[in-house]
Amino acid sequence: MTESLVLTRFKKSLSTYEDNAPIQKQMAKNLVSMIDKNKIYNSILEIGCGSGFLTKECTSKLKYVKYTANDIIPDCEKYILKYDNKIKFICGDFQTLNLQEEYDLIISNAVFQWFKSPDEILNKLSRHLSKNGTIAITSFGEKNFYELKEIFNVGIKYPEFKNFVKEDIAEIEFKTLKELLTHIKLTGVNAIKNYPLTKGKLKEFENKYIEKYGKIKLTYNPIYIIIDN
Ligand SMILES: C[S@@+](CC[C@H](N)C(=O)[O-])C[C@H]1O[C@@H](n2cnc3c(N)ncnc32)[C@H](O)[C@@H]1O
Repeated sequence: MTESLVLTRFKKSLSTYEDNAPIQKQMAKNLVSMIDKNKIYNSILEIGCGSGFLTKECTSKLKYVKYTANDIIPDCEKYILKYDNKIKFICGDFQTLNLQEEYDLIISNAVFQWFKSPDEILNKLSRHLSKNGTIAITSFGEKNFYELKEIFNVGIKYPEFKNFVKEDIAEIEFKTLKELLTHIKLTGVNAIKNYPLTKGKLKEFENKYIEKYGKIKLTYNPIYIIIDN
């Protein structure tokens, strides 16, 4: 997907994301549970904060002095400031953002799969990580949304992270295929590029789905990466 398509999709779904993304919410909680809570972080950088699932976890559970959050969508600022009004928000595409500082925690939830070269971004992060600092990120593995690839032959290529510390498989079940497609739309994680479906086509795909899996479901494959400096 192009950057502008990512931007349009997430911008549209920002207000509905919070109530429709239980997996990403749990991922934010799990990620923060893996981080040292006794430490006082001098400077935290959060990448792709969205409506603030991870911001909420970090600001309520970690001790820190400075918190910087980034997202490509300007509206995210008003969502995250409700968790700490001193957060510095930097709007822009993180891939081209010029980092000026060092951080002792760089954290991100469910964003890295949208980057063109996640390894390059990890290298960039390690150059801005202070001594004894930590990079903590979640993303998705290759089994994520595999049903969409098999049935519709669409989807993004998920990055191949080698050193993840934890991997989960979570399934969400839906009554109809229309409900599943609405879930994808409301969370912005729309892997189906403007795919127009007539009533007849929808039924055809629904039958295919039931034939293959016995139910209408979507698999999430969260992965967790922790890198200590
Ligand atoms: C699935 S949402 C995750 C939001 C949040 N991290 C959470 O914990 O729920 C992905 C977020 O990444 C942002 N994003 C995607 N590509 C980006 C980029 N290149 N630079 C900055 N933010 C980006 C989107 O705008 C969106 O808010």
